[in-house]
Amino acid sequence: MEIMHKKIVILVGSLRKDSTNRKIAKELIRLSSERLNMEIVEVGQLPLYNEDFDSNPPAEWTEFKNKIEQADGILIVSPEYNRSIPGALKNAIDVGSRPYGKNSWAAKPGGIVTSSPSGIGGAVANHHIRQAMVFVDVPIMQQPEAYISGSWNIWKEDGVTVDEKTEPFLKSWITAFENWVYKF
Ligand SMILES: Cc1cc2nc3c(=O)[nH]c(=O)nc-3n(C[C@H](O)[C@H](O)[C@H](O)COP(=O)(O)O)c2cc1C
Repeated sequence: MEIMHKKIVILVGSLRKDSTNRKIAKELIRLSSERLNMEIVEVGQLPLYNEDFDSNPPAEWTEFKNKIEQADGILIVSPEYNRSIPGALKNAIDVGSRPYGKNSWAAKPGGIVTSSPSGIGGAVANHHIRQAMVFVDVPIMQQPEAYISGSWNIWKEDGVTVDEKTEPFLKSWITAFENWVYKF
């Protein structure tokens, strides 16, 4: 029997090769059940949003919007930059939201995980991302919240697997997110 699954697009707010947020996103994929089919969709290649190009959009915008439109849900895993949303991620949110009347995000359930090597786990960025996503009509899971602090020190020796303390948290969060997505 074929297993039903929901397609989830993951956006990572950091572009750097060794991004801890990208590694957390990959761990969330590993810890998710087969009811979620999760894929990271890149945001770093998107030209900066410019309303002048709404009528003749760059191919990268169209390709990105198509991927969002094919998804059943959106998961954002991001750092905080200067107490706010990293520019590449905000640009992706803007690109997906336009042209006016063609908002690709509309009514897709979403979730946000932020992380930081410091103590408050990107909480300020988390709520800035939340504000933008709510405006583009994405119902964002309210609870449980995910602010991962000390993010450079949550890894096992292999550098890619989260430690015994972090894994159960990520597992319970992604299970809650799965239930959230299936409500829609
Ligand atoms: C431009 C810039 C601004 C940053 N601002 C913040 C900040 O406001 N709050 C915070 O907790 N960390 C801040 N950091 C540190 C990041 O949380 C840290 O570099 C993190 O590892 C980035 O995520 P990544 O590993 O996925 O690239 C900033 C980093 C950069 C490069």
